[in-house]
Amino acid sequence: MTHAEKSWEKRLTGEPDELAVEFVESLSVDRRLYKYDIAGSIAHAEMLAEQKLITRDELKQIKEALYRIGAEIGEGRFEFEKKYEDIHMAIEAALVDMIGDAGRKLHAGRSRNDQVATDLRLWMRDEIEILQARITLLQKAFVRLAGKYPDEVMPGYTHLQRAQPVVIACYLLSFVEQLERDFIRLKNCGRLLNISPLGSGAIAGSALPLDRKGAAGRLGFSDISYNSIDAVGDRDFCAEFVFDCALTGAHLSRLAEDWIIYSSNEFGFVRIDDSYCTSSSMMPQKRNPDMLELIRAKTGRVYGSLVAMLTVLKGQPSGYNRDLQEDKVHIFAAADTVDACLDMARAIVSHTKFDTRRISGGLDDGFLDATALAEYLVGKGVPFRSAHSIVGSLVADCERGGKRLGELGLDELRAGCEAIEADVYEVLGAANAPGRYVTEGAAGPKQAKEQIAYWDKQLGQR
Ligand code: ARG
Repeated sequence: MTHAEKSWEKRLTGEPDELAVEFVESLSVDRRLYKYDIAGSIAHAEMLAEQKLITRDELKQIKEALYRIGAEIGEGRFEFEKKYEDIHMAIEAALVDMIGDAGRKLHAGRSRNDQVATDLRLWMRDEIEILQARITLLQKAFVRLAGKYPDEVMPGYTHLQRAQPVVIACYLLSFVEQLERDFIRLKNCGRLLNISPLGSGAIAGSALPLDRKGAAGRLGFSDISYNSIDAVGDRDFCAEFVFDCALTGAHLSRLAEDWIIYSSNEFGFVRIDDSYCTSSSMMPQKRNPDMLELIRAKTGRVYGSLVAMLTVLKGQPSGYNRDLQEDKVHIFAAADTVDACLDMARAIVSHTKFDTRRISGGLDDGFLDATALAEYLVGKGVPFRSAHSIVGSLVADCERGGKRLGELGLDELRAGCEAIEADVYEVLGAANAPGRYVTEGAAGPKQAKEQIAYWDKQLGQR
């Protein structure tokens, strides 16, 4: 179908340059907003009818035509013509084509400036729910995996050097915490953005008696914006949304980095399922963790979107500027990338196994029990700083002699500190340490079980 001419450009002379048509269009990107554009138009039309600015019959015609257009787009039967620039004009042109003057009445009191701001907020509200659902599924996968290793000990690392022993469950639950903050951040973002700019018009509102609150209520907004100049130029929510996506990306990227390292021959802590590995075209033995590497790399894209989004906003004069059309590229890209990464991460986490034999076999390398020994001395009345240097010297001795702390005789230990007694051997050995952690949130088996129960309940309600 060919639609009406561009009636809103009568002021311009001649045809636009082909180059300009291609350059200015956003239809190829913003067509994915069509459902929200139609929902916004229906709410606006209903409000216009309520305010007697259009008749009931005109409203009926508008709604029927918009539903038809929505169905045509949904079924891929709608012909998108770039000359209409964006989804708003493409739909409006089709509407006028179908119902004539009733269609021409729809845009009363409205501008594409408040229209697109409304569409974006509606889209983002839904997208946030989708991402939150993905986050929850990944959290559940982590909790399930943690449930398999509540007592199994692994080295905890700082600076990627062996630090203190932790139970595997607590290591896994550390990601659930990060993802929980991502979930809450998105929720907050959704709350803040849920106000209606509709009725702000191009920049100054309207002299028509629009019922802004009525239209906002129909669209499920919790309030309306109270400054039309701000409302049409505000994309804070876009920057915030992309930041939230970027931080989720950072968390996923850190997980990816851990497991790329942990799945190496040198570590051998985890086995990434074959379904999430690729092999090499040349080296037949290879099992490469490509999906994790791609999660790590795709996070870079989201960071790119964040910088791009912030840069679009920077230096714009007040009100609406066409610069803002570029927001969509970045919010869509960020959402799509993080959505895909969350889903991939969920699949990988659901199929990963920890090689507890291999991990515990190497647990006594690297003096993971040194801090436990220092805390044992504190329990015997030795000041912590003195205990720290005593154990430091013992570790240095051990290193020279090729021994572990637990392999030193009581005499050797007592040569380091008189306060050491025979019960010291209950404390030595990395596998023993986590069971002795008593602080809340510590990485021990007791805390792991409490946290698993907590998350089971918490996530079960979502
Ligand atoms: N396609 C535009 C955008 O995405 C819609 C608003 C255009 N408004 C205007 N006055 N040119 O931002």
